[in-house]
Amino acid sequence: MNDLHPDLARVVVSTDQIQSRVKELADQISTDFADRETLYIIGILKGAFIFLADLTRHLRVPHNVDFMALSSYGKTTSSGAVRILMDLREPVEGQHLIIVEDIVDTGRTLDYLYRVLKGRKPASLHSCVLIRKQRDNLNIPIDYLGFDIPDVWVVGYGLDFADKHRTLPYIAELKRE
Ligand code: IMP
Repeated sequence: MNDLHPDLARVVVSTDQIQSRVKELADQISTDFADRETLYIIGILKGAFIFLADLTRHLRVPHNVDFMALSSYGKTTSSGAVRILMDLREPVEGQHLIIVEDIVDTGRTLDYLYRVLKGRKPASLHSCVLIRKQRDNLNIPIDYLGFDIPDVWVVGYGLDFADKHRTLPYIAELKRE
């Protein structure tokens, strides 16, 4: 791509690749949950809002949408303890939950979410993650995965660096300073 922003090194996942994979993930979820009751889609803010919007518009099963906001300490790295900044509006006991997360790096955030949501006694709990950076040391299952990418900092399609580049339609590697 010729018109890349100067902060960006290269496109890692193109707009077309994202759009077709997101549709495939929605088709797979729609097939797997065809006989279930209403799905409860939990988007993790801020990063998952674009992915969730595209994914849910392709779903062919009834679903509700709600959001949680989590934070790890440090704005641009994924290190540190995780805490809840904004919680779900309703109890989710007995519901079929799907966590929709933009990116998994160390897996700490997803691991924490799993433990919190399991504790609320849902009927089932699954995860749908667009990007995975590390495969090792992840002890939580990712049920629906978009792409594996190298361990570089990426932005776009919901992902940011200090709140920048979040609304790019593709996912790009940030240049190292
Ligand atoms: P984890 O807890 O190490 O798996 O980190 C997950 C969180 O770190 C994600 O929800 C993002 O907020 C952030 N993160 C990790 N890697 C990236 C990246 O490459 N770009 C943008 N955010 C990232």
